[in-house]
Amino acid sequence: MAFTEIKHPLIVDKLTRMRRKDTSSKDFRENLNEIGGLMVYEVFRDLPLTPGEIETPVTKTTGYTVDQSVVLVPIIRAGLGMTAGIQQLIPTAKVAHIGLYRDEETLEPVQYFAKPTADIASSYVLVVDPMLATGGSASKAIDIAKEWGAKTIKFICLVAAPEGVARLQKDHPDIDIYAASLDEKLNDDGYIVPGLGDAGDRIFGTK
Ligand code: PRP
Ligand code: URA
Repeated sequence: MAFTEIKHPLIVDKLTRMRRKDTSSKDFRENLNEIGGLMVYEVFRDLPLTPGEIETPVTKTTGYTVDQSVVLVPIIRAGLGMTAGIQQLIPTAKVAHIGLYRDEETLEPVQYFAKPTADIASSYVLVVDPMLATGGSASKAIDIAKEWGAKTIKFICLVAAPEGVARLQKDHPDIDIYAASLDEKLNDDGYIVPGLGDAGDRIFGTK
């Protein structure tokens, strides 16, 4: 399905701050959460609204509310860094976690955790990870979400490599992909160029 690059000036500015190698972990985290919030505005454009009668101080009228259940699926660790910003806009969203890390030699994802929510099959599911590099981790996370019964799934990231987008479109042609930036390429170590380095390490200060 569609790949959408969400290129709003506020997002581009915040992403530029995050790319700088001397940006602190605190500023990196703040900008990542803020971009997450700005991006979901676009990602959830098609959320269904439920009409219902309400009373304003002046009169009765029809109001519209989002009653559709939403489940965020952050890929641990780095996906956690975007989740709070998205939850600020969708406070009722539940969170199902998937723990994956990339094997440094093979670049293949290794699973170490998975915990669904009870209502995932009937929910709008948003898989969240700032980095789409080879696409292996995102593809595996979406495999798991589908095994849980999820039917309406989207994937959101901050920076995508063309290789990752192609892999995801091949493995999961039914999934819409959203990124703040489609970068140039992967380098020989599987890092996105120009990218922003290792997102998990920068969020959690582990290197
Ligand atoms: C990073 C990133 C993605 C994955 C992307 O996680 O957060 O999950 O790499 O790479 P891929 O598209 O080639 O699979 P990492 O494995 O470094 O784990 P971390 O989030 O715990 O740092
Ligand atoms: N994971 C990251 O955190 N950064 C990259 O550039 C590639 C994978």
